[in-house]
Amino acid sequence: MNAIVLIGFMGAGKTTVGRLLSQELDIPFIDFDQALVERLNMSIAEYFDQFGEEAFRNEETELLHEVMTQSAVLSTGGGIVLKELNRMALKQMKHVIFLQAEADTVYQRVLQDHNMVRPLAQRSQKDFIALYESRLPLYQEVATITVDTTKKTPETIVSELIDVV
Ligand code: S3P
Repeated sequence: MNAIVLIGFMGAGKTTVGRLLSQELDIPFIDFDQALVERLNMSIAEYFDQFGEEAFRNEETELLHEVMTQSAVLSTGGGIVLKELNRMALKQMKHVIFLQAEADTVYQRVLQDHNMVRPLAQRSQKDFIALYESRLPLYQEVATITVDTTKKTPETIVSELIDVV
């Protein structure tokens, strides 16, 4: 089985939903941000600071290509769709689940998440929303399923997904 991939903007719920979905399906879960922190041996914010965004994109691209054929649930970082190479790879996959939520909702969630500093979220609400809007068509381009998570609990989302993956 190819991996089941979760995509979407920061704060869309990819990690929470991905972990739960993997438990329900009884297959491994790979959280890209966490895997990259372990691999790079530093936080994402530190890596952005020292090596820049492009180097980070290359690392996440490498990881995607390493794990995409595994039988696992993958929770990708919000920027995975930026590289055309990744979009081409995602278009070959059977299940690419786009977790969508309203811009204001993801902004609030990211503000309240004190567990992780997201370098690209350290900006005004207006710029954050502009980034969100620029990414939307890229997620839509590769998604096989879109789920609006704005008013749903992770459990409800997973119960819907179980029927379609
Ligand atoms: C990013 C999203 C983050 C993380 C990095 C860059 C982005 O992951 O990979 O800070 O460009 O949208 P989450 O989507 O898990 O927050």
